[in-house]
Amino acid sequence: MNAQAPIDRGKADRPIPKPGILGISPYVPGKAKADGIDHPIKLSANENILGCSPKAKAAYAAAADQMNLYPDGRSGALRAAVAERYHLEPERLVFGCGTDEIFQLINQVYLEPGDNIVQGQYGFGAYAIGARACGGEVRFAPEPDYRIDVDAVLGCVDERTRVVFIANPGNPTGTWIGAEAIGRLHAGLPPSVMLVLDGAYAEFATDPRFSEGFELARAASNVIVTHTFSKIHGLAALRVGWAYAPADAADAIDRIRLPFNTSIPAQAAALAALADTEFQARSLALVEQWRPWLVQQLGGLGLDVLPSATNFLLIRFPTTPGKTAADAEAFLASRGYLTRGVAGYGLPDHLRLTIGLEEHNRAVVELVAQFLARKAQG
Ligand SMILES: Cc1ncc(COP(=O)(O)O)c(C=O)c1O
Repeated sequence: MNAQAPIDRGKADRPIPKPGILGISPYVPGKAKADGIDHPIKLSANENILGCSPKAKAAYAAAADQMNLYPDGRSGALRAAVAERYHLEPERLVFGCGTDEIFQLINQVYLEPGDNIVQGQYGFGAYAIGARACGGEVRFAPEPDYRIDVDAVLGCVDERTRVVFIANPGNPTGTWIGAEAIGRLHAGLPPSVMLVLDGAYAEFATDPRFSEGFELARAASNVIVTHTFSKIHGLAALRVGWAYAPADAADAIDRIRLPFNTSIPAQAAALAALADTEFQARSLALVEQWRPWLVQQLGGLGLDVLPSATNFLLIRFPTTPGKTAADAEAFLASRGYLTRGVAGYGLPDHLRLTIGLEEHNRAVVELVAQFLARKAQG
């Protein structure tokens, strides 16, 4: 069906989705299954390979006694803890069912049909879905060298731009831009445009020139910083994300969010996870230990691996038939290792690989070596 065809929806013989909805491609998550393999190693969704904090698990289990109750819709205890940990004003925080929901809410608050958002060429898929659902146009700023280009982003902005979404570090690229570049981007934006800095992987970015943007957001009336409990805290299943927003934006978002968008077990687990700095340090240490090793080993096999500030790597494969990223994804899956093909992000020659435990990382390198050698001989 042509989603653009003009239809008088009031005269249709059945309810017809509003224009644009059927033109949206649904989000494709990383694969969780491999044919014929009972327990594949999932390195396809940038989850925390260590699981989560045992304290978070205990808090989740303890919350089972409260399943008959509605949660605190303001996530009060978690709000206070996040505010204290990050030195933020509690009333400027917004909590959501993952940061995915927060992106959706930001789009709903700011976009009318005909408005647009700007994101990087390889930007995270969730921003665009929400924007299109609001009748918004999505503009992709070229990312030369697989990195956000401030001038390219600014070049996409016009008087109908309402939001600029920057994942920093980016997914699926893993690259980042520094505080200076973010400052220049913000300075170049009209004050009417909301700049969203998505810090889903910020805890893995250890370069001192990296900034999450809280200082910028504190003083600006048009900057939102988002964070998630899905990555370093390992609570992706529970769906908790938060945003630090200007007070009027936080107020607007709170007006339209579902009243109980984070559950009691999720709030309790997130609260315990936030306090477990030992687990966070362990998660970061694992990534810091194996990230350079994987880059070096895979690079040694002749593959281009982008420098990453995240818990994953983006790896470029040859275009030779039999050696492509899709072939490598299938080969690894057949041996029980799930990686993420990113053709849907416009990167058909790349695979995204979540950094695993030592045995996973060693096995992946060995399998990739076999894959490349096999095809070279074959
Ligand atoms: C860049 C980026 N932002 C946000 C998210 C979503 O996080 P959440 O689980 O909080 O919805 C992801 C998840 O993969 C991501 O890669």
